[in-house]
Amino acid sequence: MVEKKNNTPILAGVVGWPVGHSLSPLIHGTWAKRAGVNGYYIPVPVAPDYDDFAVAMDALKTLGFAGVNITIPHKEHALRYTSEASDAARRAGAANMLTFGEKSYADNSDITGFTEAVRATSSAPGQSALVLGAGGAARGVVLALQSLGFADIAVANRTRAKSEELAKTFGLSVADWEDRTKVLENIDLLVNTTSLGMAGQPPLEIDLADLKPGALVADIVYAPLETPLLKAAKASGHKTVDGLAMLMHQAVPGFKTWFGGEAVVDDALRAVLVEDLNKRGGA
Ligand code: ATR
Repeated sequence: MVEKKNNTPILAGVVGWPVGHSLSPLIHGTWAKRAGVNGYYIPVPVAPDYDDFAVAMDALKTLGFAGVNITIPHKEHALRYTSEASDAARRAGAANMLTFGEKSYADNSDITGFTEAVRATSSAPGQSALVLGAGGAARGVVLALQSLGFADIAVANRTRAKSEELAKTFGLSVADWEDRTKVLENIDLLVNTTSLGMAGQPPLEIDLADLKPGALVADIVYAPLETPLLKAAKASGHKTVDGLAMLMHQAVPGFKTWFGGEAVVDDALRAVLVEDLNKRGGA
């Protein structure tokens, strides 16, 4: 926890471009109220360039910010900004947390966010998984799956070269994008890391008829909260993990590090966020 100097409020925030839609201020604000913390968590728009990012980070540090979450398009910039980073952030090639100090520290709680969201849904999520997509989000999800004990992970991506590269880095197998439906009968967890299903994007086309009974279906997209994929999964009796669960869990380490106090992911927090999404017409 950061020491409060002369009752000065603790400052933290989320840095991205754009960042106005971020739910993180509401998550941290809800926890701060619960814990009686004297602090503020604000959205900080920073233009996509690395140079702009570095200037902004120096400024936030000078202003006394305890730390910031980092979102698109700066997750790789956060690693470049500091020489101090966790193994998880280095392996993911991206950081979503930057804690300011003499040497600022970059970390990745997207990975533990996914892990915790899956654990909250199933105590034994299984051995084999299919990851759809091979971008930055897929890297974090693969690391989370490996830490959950998944030994047999396949990746399918529209651009095969990218799934091959991911497979080589993390010891995975590759499935053809066109064959994504065919491999479903043998997997315990299906996760969508593509942007398909997001508001304004085409839906993810996948028939879940052959998906193993008891398999989990996860989607990192949270706008809409119930993507066509999750809707289909529920209709076929499968348990689901949505993007909001991951978002809430990834926020926990930042709150604890910067504000101190408890940060509990529960139905009451979810209800606050769902209400906000509904107001925007996003859920
Ligand atoms: P992120 O860092 O959030 O993962 P990204 O690196 O842009 O974002 O990755 C987006 C993912 O969505 C990629 O796997 C992309 O597939 P390609 O590598 O073939 O581009 C996938 N994606 C985006 N639009 C898609 C579409 N219309 N059909 C299939 N996959 C799509």
